[in-house]
Amino acid sequence: MVESEESALSTRPVAHSKFPLVDRNAILQEFEAIFSGSAPSPNGCLSIEGSWGMGRTALLNAACLSAQSAGCIVLRTRGGTGERPAPFGGLLHLIEDIASLRNANEEVVEQIHKVLDRLQREGERNFDALGAAFSGLVLSVRKLGFVVVAIDDADQVDDATMLTLEYFFHRLDDQQIWLLTTSPARQSGAARW
Ligand SMILES: Nc1ncnc2c1ncn2[C@@H]1O[C@H](COP(=O)(O)OP(=O)(O)OP(=O)(O)O)[C@@H](O)[C@H]1O
Ligand SMILES: [Mg+2]
Repeated sequence: MVESEESALSTRPVAHSKFPLVDRNAILQEFEAIFSGSAPSPNGCLSIEGSWGMGRTALLNAACLSAQSAGCIVLRTRGGTGERPAPFGGLLHLIEDIASLRNANEEVVEQIHKVLDRLQREGERNFDALGAAFSGLVLSVRKLGFVVVAIDDADQVDDATMLTLEYFFHRLDDQQIWLLTTSPARQSGAARW
């Protein structure tokens, strides 16, 4: 894609290694095919799993770069290292990314207000309503381009954020909106990529 389009769609720049990743070409080609719309993804959720230090963040960064190059809007957050992450910290981070989109239009701004209003009034008391409001927001962003919501160390993201995202992603069809996460391997010692 041309550079001017990319800068219009991107939020924060994605960090990347100076060197190509070893042994990650095949999986990166799969991501590229999905994000460019040339291959279907089984559902909206894409998971990078591996043990600590196995290169999950590096692969997530490379996948996000590939998504940006394919013209996707990439929204990012990550799990904190604190013992009790603040409720909705991750969600607010994603909303900040949306608010900083250069091509955010009136509809997007209106939907941001709806989510923040719902958050302020009901907090953790009504995840269905909050999830619905967040869906409305992401769907308004989807009108600007394919969307990737990338979450590094998803296992350490606050529960309120994950419950809100769960509501949304369980209702997603094939809408070119993807949730890309990293987390520890479910079976110890086994990386899934
Ligand atoms: N495939 C690879 N080829 C070359 N270098 C890599 C590769 N994967 C990771 N690295 C390098 O290894 C180091 C650790 O990788 P990274 O931080 O991505 O691991 P991680 O699984 O996210 O670790 P953490 O458990 O701290 O979250 C980084 O310096 C990264 O650049
Ligand atoms: Mg990491």
